[in-house]
Amino acid sequence: MTEENNQDPEVDLDAKLEEMMLNLRLPDPADLQDEIDGITSSEALAEFEKKHLGKGSSIAGEMRNLGRLPQDQRREAGRRINEVRQAVQGRVNERQEALTVQERAASMAAEGIDVTVDHRQIPIGSLHLIQQVIDEVSDIFTGLGYHVADGPEAELAWYNFDALNTPPDHPGRLESDTMYLDYGKPEDEMLLRAHTSPVQARYMEQNPPPVYIVSPGRAYRNDTIDASHLPVFFQIEGLAVDENIKFSDLKGTLEEFARQFFAPDTVVRLRPHYFPFTEPSAEVDVSCFNCDRGESSCRVCGGSGWLEMLGCGMVDPAVFEAVGYDPDAVTGFAFGMGVERLAMVRHGIDSIRHFIDNDLRFLEQFQG
Ligand code: PHE
Repeated sequence: MTEENNQDPEVDLDAKLEEMMLNLRLPDPADLQDEIDGITSSEALAEFEKKHLGKGSSIAGEMRNLGRLPQDQRREAGRRINEVRQAVQGRVNERQEALTVQERAASMAAEGIDVTVDHRQIPIGSLHLIQQVIDEVSDIFTGLGYHVADGPEAELAWYNFDALNTPPDHPGRLESDTMYLDYGKPEDEMLLRAHTSPVQARYMEQNPPPVYIVSPGRAYRNDTIDASHLPVFFQIEGLAVDENIKFSDLKGTLEEFARQFFAPDTVVRLRPHYFPFTEPSAEVDVSCFNCDRGESSCRVCGGSGWLEMLGCGMVDPAVFEAVGYDPDAVTGFAFGMGVERLAMVRHGIDSIRHFIDNDLRFLEQFQG
């Protein structure tokens, strides 16, 4: 506010003289500067301001006295008082600005905020393609009235195999297929779940019918990495249990899913298959969304017109018995699909390895 120069009006001797002649009691702003410089907090500065500029200050006092001065002195005295008041106020304001900067920096330091970090260097990132597909599939099924259920990845062999009607001599139980965590007593044998199907058993054990759930998550198999296998991969399990659920409900549900996920005119084809926990069981192909039913040059289906997508079937009554459901009262269907496979088919991704390489040139193509 004040112009700092050598001929500061407040140290101007003529002005001083005039002041004395006018008999004004005013501080010399220059004399106050050392005190102002020594003030280290906004609170202390406010005190100072009150003392020198507030109601009880000599400046305010002289202002009040103006009316009592002879007419010919009033103008000059008023000018002089204002000059001093503005000079002091200007010095206070300047100090306040400096203190505000210091106090902000101190409080940011106390909160651990480093204002020197260049935030523009931090890329925002996006969801991994696998997570995007999981979210999308979950959305489609929640739209059909399902909800999303969860289960542990470190699982009891009971839920991974026995409750799912898998006999003790099933080849999937071999160490060459399944990763075991513990070789304790058979009843608490632990493994990394080989599919998301144990969530079916756990959920039914805890919840009475009707059941409409999807369950996305990791599954583990003792597989060597190649273009289509990873030892850790993702599946989405589906389960519907209610009165009078039929095989046609299963087909219709999967077709509705495929139409929303791939293309509106998609049809599905079921081929007989075997799973211990469903009877009958099927593998599901969806019609190719990329070509008109089997063009030999199609890079997606290779000319067959069909894409192998998932496994499914009607829940085996033995599974209902294992979880305490009455197999005569309810029926149901289940399905399981690989998330990587869904993404690969849809986007023409040639190797499952891309999902774990974390190469940004791959990942950045799928910013969801
Ligand atoms: N769990 C089976 C698999 O991993 C898929 C599946 C789930 C099949 C549910 C039928 C019913 O291959």
